[in-house]
Amino acid sequence: MRLPFFIILISSLLISSPLPARSWKKDEFRNCNQTPFCRRARARKPGACSLIATDVLISDGNLVAKLIDKNREDPATDLDPVKPLILTVSAYQDAILRLKIDEDQTLDPPKKRFEVPEVIIPEFEAKKLWLQKIVKEQIGGDSKPSSVVYLSDGYEAVLRHDPLEIYVREKSSGNRVLSMNSHGLFDFEQLRTKKEGEDWEEKFRGHTDTRPYGPQSISFDVSFYGSDFVYGIPEHATSLALKPTRGPGIDHSEPYRLFNLDVFEYIHDSPFGIYGSIPFMISHGKSRGTSGFFWLNAAEMQIDVLGAGWDADSGISFPSSGNRIDTFWMTEAGIVDTFFFVGPGPKDVLRQYTTVTGTPAMPQLFATAYHQCRWNYRDEEDVENVDAKFDEHDIPYDVLWLDIEHTDGKRYFTWDKALFPNPQEMQRKLAAKGRHMVTIVDPHIKRDDSYFLHEDATKLGYYVKDATGKDYDGWCWPGSSSYIDMLSPEIRSWWGERFSYLNYLGSTPSLYIWNDMNEPSVFNGPEVSMPRDALHVGGVEHRELHNAYGYYFHMATADGLIKRADEKDRPFVLSRAFFPGSQRYGAVWTGDNSADWDHLRVSIPMLLTLGLTGMTFSGADVGGFFGNPEAELLVRWYQLGAYYPFFRGHAHHDTKRREPWLFGERNTELMREAIHVRYMLLPYFYTLFREANTSGTPILRPLWMEFPSDEETFSKDEAFMVGNSLLVQGIFTERAKHVSVYLPGEQSWYDVRTGATYTGGSTHKLDALEESIPAFQRAGTIIPRRDRFRRSSTQMTNDPFTLVIALNSSKAAEGELYIDDGKSFNFKQGAYIHRRFVFKDGKLTSSDARNSSSGKLMFNSDCTIERIIILGHAAGPKNALVEPENLKLEIELGPLQLHGRSGPAVLTIRKPGVLVTNDWTIKIL
Ligand code: NOJ
Repeated sequence: MRLPFFIILISSLLISSPLPARSWKKDEFRNCNQTPFCRRARARKPGACSLIATDVLISDGNLVAKLIDKNREDPATDLDPVKPLILTVSAYQDAILRLKIDEDQTLDPPKKRFEVPEVIIPEFEAKKLWLQKIVKEQIGGDSKPSSVVYLSDGYEAVLRHDPLEIYVREKSSGNRVLSMNSHGLFDFEQLRTKKEGEDWEEKFRGHTDTRPYGPQSISFDVSFYGSDFVYGIPEHATSLALKPTRGPGIDHSEPYRLFNLDVFEYIHDSPFGIYGSIPFMISHGKSRGTSGFFWLNAAEMQIDVLGAGWDADSGISFPSSGNRIDTFWMTEAGIVDTFFFVGPGPKDVLRQYTTVTGTPAMPQLFATAYHQCRWNYRDEEDVENVDAKFDEHDIPYDVLWLDIEHTDGKRYFTWDKALFPNPQEMQRKLAAKGRHMVTIVDPHIKRDDSYFLHEDATKLGYYVKDATGKDYDGWCWPGSSSYIDMLSPEIRSWWGERFSYLNYLGSTPSLYIWNDMNEPSVFNGPEVSMPRDALHVGGVEHRELHNAYGYYFHMATADGLIKRADEKDRPFVLSRAFFPGSQRYGAVWTGDNSADWDHLRVSIPMLLTLGLTGMTFSGADVGGFFGNPEAELLVRWYQLGAYYPFFRGHAHHDTKRREPWLFGERNTELMREAIHVRYMLLPYFYTLFREANTSGTPILRPLWMEFPSDEETFSKDEAFMVGNSLLVQGIFTERAKHVSVYLPGEQSWYDVRTGATYTGGSTHKLDALEESIPAFQRAGTIIPRRDRFRRSSTQMTNDPFTLVIALNSSKAAEGELYIDDGKSFNFKQGAYIHRRFVFKDGKLTSSDARNSSSGKLMFNSDCTIERIIILGHAAGPKNALVEPENLKLEIELGPLQLHGRSGPAVLTIRKPGVLVTNDWTIKIL
């Protein structure tokens, strides 16, 4: 098909100009009203669901039932004959309930609806409990029965037959935890043959969606009990605690949209969907604790959070007691494949969710340090200069990034020969200092017959097809482009091979990858993406898998890097689009933010939400992608970004250069100090990455994750915890004089710069200091650090550690340290050190925290502890005794000094000489 002239014109303008003339335009994107399935679903009235459960029985260890329409015999209704749906309830260890509802395959539906493959990890099936029996129960005044099945010793699942409702309750109290269809809003549009004269096409801004299979949406309500707030369902630039989108007093709010889109210049407080989608919601409340609900579905989703009270428009009455939050979930296609998580603690819900979708991958150490990016570092000389300047200014960094301009005409896996004639040498020079490089590889492939990748993909038939079956042709950076069909495992494996050193010429082992634009972004497509009627392998429509496209691309790239390294080294791939399970493949970032204070502020709720939904390795562009930050904003951003799990400075092509040494000496010093903070804390971060890798617990945590019964914390999203030991409060205003910080809990907190003590359970008004944002160590914790300044993290591997002990009111504290080779997969076979440090009764003990099933390999280290700082200990003791060596050391008493501030005198033990690998005790005498 020939493209209309104006599209060619606009597209060539986009390509020739480095800054596309695009900014966030609300009108480019559909709202609920312009989205027929959303409009239809929102118009439903409570109780509209006429399905009831029949033929309930146990089959293959599951509870299975038929859902039939109780009105179907009613001649008065002019409905299509509604076929029964099949409902399946399965129970898994840890009280996880899986509920599926799909069409009955024995009745030959026109098409098998799409089930998202390879998100649920294979290990999950082994955790299935084989249900044995159904207990029938007459609940309340119901004349019809409910079917009750075992979920765990504490919980059971109930299927109420008529009206249809599914819920999980606590066995002992009978209290509900989570329920579906309690408002009777469930609806499942079954696939059917088109009636004569029926028009299924949908049009939006000049794009036609042929919709060959017609309406196939699903919607239902989900209620969370004992709930004060709900969280999760990224990605939106909005508050951590989700605001109600419907209900009394809420004017025309859009639902939270989950639809992966390339939204240029997204605004900072909006329910519109941006680059990634995770349909996982978490509820938290003082009375019940935490629970979670996850819907595995990759089609467009819209989710309403319903406010309490009566809403005249919708006719829905929402409970006002405040102990239940109702939500309404709508999707365009797919099936019901849902998971109910009972918690009851915040970390329990994360464990349960990652039991299904996998825990975050363990990154290489370098990836947890500071990354320097810009669109674009021009050429090899530019790279060399930037690299040298970091050293000159004594600022550590680990990774230098190359954006799209490094390629030959946006043909990925190539180099612009004039600008980057010796890519391998360039990488080797960086590698000699322990540094790495990242290059960008996007999913749009330039349709150029002389481009090897296009030639191969065309020949092999590996592109996504348009609705007529031809290779889909859309416009992106390279101009006319096609998109690799990442749904197919065969194609993914082929894609992975592109990263071998033989195929990716100019790449070396220190090169890693950035996957951008993988929503996928298509400049001339509907809503800047791929048409929903485009086709993937097996006849799967793009609408069915849209939100998972970027996930499969990320997966294929990460698997390719693993293969490239003979399965030895961990990959590093940054992705912009994501879906449940993306945490297994690498990091994500929050895309094209802006250099303003609001975007700095919203980065925290955005990253907290990502952490709550499994994607803990996440960050926001430090400095803001669009626009030129004032020096003060940039400094504040470095101070905050130093605590992001993924810490990268990045900027748009058209912005002024903003490397940390370009804003005068004082600002350079401030940014250097901020980056140093991150490098000092790398052992702590790495230990937290490992915790996330084993348990799903995120690195960045909302305060309520650590203080689940402190209501004051439930809606706070300007302060956050890094692990269980550090609380950080951002400064989000220009020329701030003061900053208020709420410190939760009963124990005190220690200012990390000075060791000064602050009481817990109260708000403190502090002076806003130029040199750092407030950060506090929680009493009762021990933080491992490495305080020697080096050029990169890889140069720190033999450095000794510092332990900072923050005593609680019982003069006790504990903490952990995890170390491995920082690179390989050997840790999976036990090649790591995991120590537990406990301070109690005046002595510090180091013991092995590895569990017995750790594996056969060992990891050794000659690293020692060079310094122990004890906060909260009375002055007096003069000596310490190291055992078993019986070495007597002096204890120093003096102020802590960080960033030029000093506070009360604290105890310091220097050079105890103990090895991190060993068991030892240090007694305060
Ligand atoms: C969009 C990405 O979000 C941005 O980070 C990148 O610099 C540009 N694409 C160019 O590749």
